[in-house]
Amino acid sequence: MIENTSGPPAAVPAAPRATLILMASVAALGGLLFGYDTSVISGAMLFLRTDFHLTDVQLEFAVGVALAGALVGAAVAGYCADRWGRRVALLATAVGFGVFAVLSGLATGLVTFSVARFFVGICIGMASLVTPLFLAEMSPANIRGALVSLNQLAITVGIAVAYFVDYELAASQNWRWMFMTAVFPALILIAGMIFLPESPRWLARAGYRERALQGFRRLGRGAEAVEELEDVERVLSEEQEGFGILLRPGFRMALLVGIGLAIFQQITGVNTIIYYSPEILRMAGYPSAQAAIIAAGIIGVVNVLITIVSIVLVDRLGRRFLLLVGTAGMTVALALVGLAFQRHMNGRSVFYAVIAYIVFFGIGLGPVVWLLIAEIYPTKIRGKAMSLATLTVWGANWIVASTFLSLIHGVGFTGTFWIYAMICLLAFLFCLAFVPETKNKSLEDIERRWRQLGGDR
Ligand code: BGC
Repeated sequence: MIENTSGPPAAVPAAPRATLILMASVAALGGLLFGYDTSVISGAMLFLRTDFHLTDVQLEFAVGVALAGALVGAAVAGYCADRWGRRVALLATAVGFGVFAVLSGLATGLVTFSVARFFVGICIGMASLVTPLFLAEMSPANIRGALVSLNQLAITVGIAVAYFVDYELAASQNWRWMFMTAVFPALILIAGMIFLPESPRWLARAGYRERALQGFRRLGRGAEAVEELEDVERVLSEEQEGFGILLRPGFRMALLVGIGLAIFQQITGVNTIIYYSPEILRMAGYPSAQAAIIAAGIIGVVNVLITIVSIVLVDRLGRRFLLLVGTAGMTVALALVGLAFQRHMNGRSVFYAVIAYIVFFGIGLGPVVWLLIAEIYPTKIRGKAMSLATLTVWGANWIVASTFLSLIHGVGFTGTFWIYAMICLLAFLFCLAFVPETKNKSLEDIERRWRQLGGDR
């Protein structure tokens, strides 16, 4: 048999690639739990109110407490991931998800429920950072976009599954199992993380050279394992420790891009659609609450399907292209939602415009923001730098969630969606001006590029 030694070196052979996809899918369960646990509460609200005799303010607290936890989780996740390793951080998160899912379901009143949900929130914040980080560091450059975006696919599946679980359990008013169902994916994630190898990049950074090499091999790098490790080590040896690195000229731009993307992913209004679409459609004239709820389910499924399209395209067309198409499309779609309200068109027009909006979000800002913030920071402080960006995502999410209803009261549906449309336009301009293309580049090449930009060699 003649061995073919020529041809492009970067592509991963088919068998390791299948193993790699399997490993990445297991780790992506972190995203599924993030999606599930953020949205499961919407179906349980009604029953919590009656079972625990909650006032409006108490109910608002019970719903919002997970978001507060997510802020804390995002703030500490980077430190934990840099200190303990990505694998251990994700394993600890999975254990937390399992334990506090059960405790939320067993809660006996507002206090026990809120404490359990606060800890679930911490896990959500941790998972939102560690999952894409782990995926980015294990992936070969040529399919990194797709593998990291499995995280977003899992988030959207989690949101859709929560929706259907809520719908199914609503008839029996079984809100406890709405929360406890999360224990199953948590158990799979725990089992998976026990067997998955640690990120070779983290191992190299921590000085475990042999294990890092083995790690690259287990992740399907054959002959290139040594080369890849040497490149990681070379870049690590040039890196300065600590946050100071992010204030150097080139990396300052990375900081700006990560934080800007985090803000725009949220303030372009996606979660007003994800969490309030039944209410929005009812206001747009949907004939019944049930029809509006089913339409919201369709939006969830479209979100999943379009993420698959983005996964197929992201390593071919690149991150920038998807972001630009996505934000441009979202701008137009939101302008149409506003217009449909202004002209008192029927609910269907609003529904179609909302579907278009989700399609463009799911192509660009949804998956690509998590991907880019996992790619653009230097290995030595990737975790902590991601904490800043992730904290920004959750902070912006909180601002949108707490202002949406007041905006509607203040400027009406038309005004609100037109404001979001203008923000989408700004997001488009921001991406056009600042976001670099990272397609097909190793994480080390991306880092070198920032340095060159800042005038370092
Ligand atoms: C965002 C979430 C959002 C979800 C919707 C994620 O990328 O971070 O806030 O709910 O996408 O698919």
